[in-house]
Amino acid sequence: MKRVFLTLVLLAGLPSGAWAKDGQAVFNAACAACHFKQRTPERRDEMVAPPMEMMAVHVRQATGGDRAAFVARVVDFIKAPSEAKAADAMAVKRFGLMPPIGDSFPELTDKDLRLVANWLFDAFAQSQLPPMEQRRGMQP
Ligand code: HEC
Repeated sequence: MKRVFLTLVLLAGLPSGAWAKDGQAVFNAACAACHFKQRTPERRDEMVAPPMEMMAVHVRQATGGDRAAFVARVVDFIKAPSEAKAADAMAVKRFGLMPPIGDSFPELTDKDLRLVANWLFDAFAQSQLPPMEQRRGMQP
């Protein structure tokens, strides 16, 4: 009986923790190939892409804190990145444009992309850009 109940709870749709789990798995399997999760200044020389957290903050600012707009924008960008769409022009200048996610990970479905975008929205909800001095140090 207890198990049936649990299964029902699981099927009935889940509090944001569910996003967190699957979305994080997509991040670990795909995005983390290029993006560090957070700023890691001591490994700056190894960075091939900006920290995921900072990108989430830029996109959140560009979309006014609205989840649907954030998710739509992230999914659209990573499928077909362009300089015109980028929320952080400095990142494009420093690292070059992100390759379309389908080039790197063709197995990811649209659902996976929405999961990871929702995870980004939740995981970095409280994040902020670092003070200007530190940001200046990050530039090329
Ligand atoms: C092959 C390397 C690579 C992979 C894999 C990758 N990215 Fe990126 N990504 C980049 C680079 C480089 C940039 C910075 C330049 C730019 O904005 O295009 C970037 C920028 C971004 C941005 C900023 C967009 C904006 O509006 O400025 C987001 C959001 C993003 N990536 C999300 C993801 C997610 C989510 C994944 C995994 C599903 C992922 N990336 C996988 C290289 C990568």
